[in-house]
Amino acid sequence: MSAAGETAAGRRPAIRAMTDRDVEAVVAVWAASGVARPWNDPARDIAFARRDPHSTVLVAEADGQVVATAMVGEDGHRGWVYYVAVDPDRQGEGFGHDVMAAAEAWLAARGVWKVQLLIREDNVGVRRFYESLGYRDMRTVCMQKVIG
Ligand SMILES: CC(C)(COP(=O)(O)OP(=O)(O)OC[C@H]1O[C@@H](n2cnc3c(N)ncnc32)[C@H](O)[C@@H]1OP(=O)(O)O)[C@@H](O)C(=O)NCCC(=O)NCCS
Repeated sequence: MSAAGETAAGRRPAIRAMTDRDVEAVVAVWAASGVARPWNDPARDIAFARRDPHSTVLVAEADGQVVATAMVGEDGHRGWVYYVAVDPDRQGEGFGHDVMAAAEAWLAARGVWKVQLLIREDNVGVRRFYESLGYRDMRTVCMQKVIG
């Protein structure tokens, strides 16, 4: 772990569930890191993830700033992680690993034993990041339909 990835106090960042005060910073990290999409309203996604105890948005804070996020939740069968994002100015410092470890711990604390995530087809490079964390391509196709 690089020293640059440590907080000013020399420790790994505190990771916590976001609060209402973090919404702007979270949306900014999503926009800057490229995980935001025009057809997904980030404020709506945040509010929906935080509406009940089955999901939340975790944030990593360093030097007083939100630097990384992961939306995490369980659907009664598997754990899911979305919006894994690190401020581009702070990428490569270990925050991605930190926030993924926190998401897995959040799920494990709720008894979830498998976690999965989606990678857009054109986001080729990021596969190595997840593989380094033990994730494997399950060779499945995700199909989706808007129902509301
Ligand atoms: C993917 C992401 C969350 C990783 O966070 P990070 O803080 O930069 O990652 P870490 O510092 O914890 O880990 C870095 C490791 O991941 C690898 N890695 C991270 N992103 C990568 C990418 N896009 N392509 C290739 N390797 C990548 C690095 O090579 C590095 O490997 P090493 O430790 O062997 O050198 C971050 O780069 C990001 O926000 N990317 C843009 C948004 C995105 O694509 N999110 C994932 C959506 S599925």
